[in-house]
Amino acid sequence: MALLPSSSSSSRHHRMLLALSMAIVASRSAVVAALMYDEVEITWGQDHSFFYMDGDVDTLALCLDETHGSGFASKDAYLYGRFDVDIMLVANNSAGTVATFYLMPDGDEVPWAYHDEVDLEFLGNETGQPYTLHTNVFVNGVGGREQQFRLWFDPTTDFHTYSIEWNPKHIIILVDGTPIRAYSNGGAARGMAFPTWQRMRPQGTLWNADEWATQGGRVKTDWTQAPFYAYYRNLRVTPCAPSPGVAWCGDEPPESPWFDRSLDAAALRKAQADHMIYDYCADLKRFKDKGLPKECNAN
Ligand SMILES: *[C@@H]1O[C@H](CO)[C@@H](O)[C@H](O)[C@H]1NC(C)=O
Ligand SMILES: *[C@@H]1O[C@H](CO)[C@@H](O)[C@H](O)[C@H]1NC(C)=O
Repeated sequence: MALLPSSSSSSRHHRMLLALSMAIVASRSAVVAALMYDEVEITWGQDHSFFYMDGDVDTLALCLDETHGSGFASKDAYLYGRFDVDIMLVANNSAGTVATFYLMPDGDEVPWAYHDEVDLEFLGNETGQPYTLHTNVFVNGVGGREQQFRLWFDPTTDFHTYSIEWNPKHIIILVDGTPIRAYSNGGAARGMAFPTWQRMRPQGTLWNADEWATQGGRVKTDWTQAPFYAYYRNLRVTPCAPSPGVAWCGDEPPESPWFDRSLDAAALRKAQADHMIYDYCADLKRFKDKGLPKECNAN
């Protein structure tokens, strides 16, 4: 069960009203900035996760031990939007552990042939060795679009902001506001896949993946270090806004440059030059028989 230590419901309520009114004043695009506790539900490992107040910030701790891990999902699902969350990852020897932040439709109801997903997976490592940020995009049940990055800071000592911007033209992944990946909509007419119709929920998990996660699976989880914790807070959802006069984002005309404003191409190129360690589009050996996926040659 979710714990809510030492915070009376009236002060929680007060804080929530304050946060809501600040959000309304601060932004015309209506950022939904409620408390994690109100916004998400625990989807896995109820007894391995808890909410607590860190100062005045409502924080969710996900826990992993030998028995299992834990996870959450937002209560609401969205078709397009910007999703930001602050995460502090498993410290010290995190080898074998994987913490995630991702968008996915309600899994059980959707046949795999329609499975869409936008993934950030933080692959743990031995103490002192760097984490890998592994990203992927699934559309209609097809993934295999991996790009990996080295973070340029220690993600275990502080909270950092990880974001997914999803609009009809681009999926952009950002770290502390810097775009590191863009997956663009090449157009169904040209045979290129993009998630355009089903609502997805932002979610997070902490689980054991020591078969593959760390140094290709050579380094296993050290259970003497368990339990492992990753911390999530400040989940922000900003609904997608179309250009003036357009009813909703899906109606934005394809030739409209409106959504290109959200992509800083120069910053993206620089971040990839500096921090990308794997790109499926550059893996000629892997695709030597079938050829590179279409989107790799699109832009
Ligand atoms: C990580 O190691 C440091 C130094 O040994 C220790 O002080 C700290 O409590 C450890 N953190 C966790 C989460 O185990
Ligand atoms: C862990 O550290 C090793 C050595 O620095 C590095 O090669 C590897 O990419 C790191 N990350 C993972 C997830 O194995």
